[in-house]
Amino acid sequence: MEGFPYIGHGVGLRPPHYRLIPGGGARADWYEVISENFMIRAGWPLIVLEKAREQSPIVFHGVSLNLGGTDPLRSDYLEELGILIKRFEPAWISDHLCWGAFGGHFTHDLLPLPYTEESLKHVAARIDQVQHRLGRRILIENVSSYLTYRHSTMPEWEFLNAVAQRADCGILLDVNNIHVNAQNHGFSAAEYIERICAQRVAQIHLAGHSDAGTHLVDTHDHPVSEPVWQLLRLALERCGRVSTLIEWDARIPEFEQLTAHMERARAIERTVVSERSE
Ligand SMILES: [Fe+2]
Repeated sequence: MEGFPYIGHGVGLRPPHYRLIPGGGARADWYEVISENFMIRAGWPLIVLEKAREQSPIVFHGVSLNLGGTDPLRSDYLEELGILIKRFEPAWISDHLCWGAFGGHFTHDLLPLPYTEESLKHVAARIDQVQHRLGRRILIENVSSYLTYRHSTMPEWEFLNAVAQRADCGILLDVNNIHVNAQNHGFSAAEYIERICAQRVAQIHLAGHSDAGTHLVDTHDHPVSEPVWQLLRLALERCGRVSTLIEWDARIPEFEQLTAHMERARAIERTVVSERSE
């Protein structure tokens, strides 16, 4: 998709691995960082990010834009994001298709929206507002969820496609979140991927989840599961080459394990691309 170049296979850069960056002890095609963690004036994280940026492209991934919420979009947040964009020139910026705050109170969670025409109109207008303010298109990510709304009128994939089309933004497709939701809510993950608007998918997330017995929880503290690797394959068959990122946020392993995940994703991509060109 225009504005979102293919940049290969990356990892989410998290504090336990910061010390590896200045000496070049970590290698990834690119790094994704949580935008909010760098909205500071000085300090070690910014020094690390500067070093990472000298080595590779970076992407800012936000967790509190509250795109689906009803509180006004925060001008101070967008101002801070603008400062980061100017300083680090990220390949792109992303946030989630969710809500997470109400009346100025943050839930610190990425909560799903009802999939209705009303919320579609609401969230698309807010994405449009953010894109105008930043002067560029963003990516929106499908979230994992543990509830659905009785008044939803369309499946999640249809909502995601419609929001992206109406706001003219890209999609960050988290295939682990698709798997978690498919298990929790009883739909077909393969059908979700089959129906996704392939031209708008500019990034893929891979992560691990936990099995709570009655449902899956998107904990980002495990290796990527086999069904999720299968979904990556399906997504690449559907979309072609897509920049792919490994997210690991708790019980973070040595960097080598992240590298092994990146290489497995790269190998799957290579196979799919060569099969597509036959
Ligand atoms: Fe994700």
